[in-house]
Amino acid sequence: MIQKTEQLYEGKAKKVFATTDPDLVIVSYKDDATAFNGAKKGTIVGKGVVNNRMSNYLMEKLTKEAGVPTHYVEELSERETLVKRVKIVPLEVIVRNIAAGSLAKRLGLAEGTPLKRTVLEYCYKCDALDDPMVNEYHILAMEYCTKEELDTIASLAQKINDYLKAYFASINVELVDFKLEFGKTKDGKIVLADEISPDTCRFWDATTHEKLDKDRFRRDMGGVEDAYKEMMKRVLG
Ligand code: TMP
Ligand code: ASP
Repeated sequence: MIQKTEQLYEGKAKKVFATTDPDLVIVSYKDDATAFNGAKKGTIVGKGVVNNRMSNYLMEKLTKEAGVPTHYVEELSERETLVKRVKIVPLEVIVRNIAAGSLAKRLGLAEGTPLKRTVLEYCYKCDALDDPMVNEYHILAMEYCTKEELDTIASLAQKINDYLKAYFASINVELVDFKLEFGKTKDGKIVLADEISPDTCRFWDATTHEKLDKDRFRRDMGGVEDAYKEMMKRVLG
């Protein structure tokens, strides 16, 4: 029996605990919500449960149906999951299908403008610098990961997008954009880590274009909990 031991880390939305197995850790999802690098704070009641269950469900499907390796091992409870211990590659990998958020702003596009091809962006994970955008040259010059690891990350991100876009379309959701994080296992393998949830994706109802994700919190739109519940219902039934 694997037992939870000491807390290793507390992030904005999750805590991470060591276990009696040195290769496994437990993540525990909180209801705390932040935006704009912690400048905006709040609570989204039930968010931890939705994000934990949705992320686990999607990661399991990605492995079984698309051959994507992930950190996921076993769901322990509504809020807690056993995952492989990895060293997180310090990059936020953003995948975009439709212009929204910071891309719409930066390029002066109306939100909702379809992109002619998938856009991949990288941000260096560093709260003190506000996660600055970086390109492949910066990543290799700063040795955030190797060229080979970056190629793996980019091809996994495309594969994940192809799979998830089709999956969300089947539940009448447009996958506008999302953020991924990857980790390196002790044998040096790159795996999908962190989470896939309404915190880290933009989900729009495909018919009404209603926002069903954390933008409702970021933009003070109301109906935040209902949006998370609706996504949970569509994904997990
Ligand atoms: P952006 O348009 O604000 O750059 O966000 C792109 C996607 O990344 C969007 O789906 C929300 C997600 N995201 C995170 O998961 N964490 C973050 O800190 C930010 C800024 C965005
Ligand atoms: N990463 C942002 C924060 O740290 C949250 C977000 O906008 O998704 O507050």
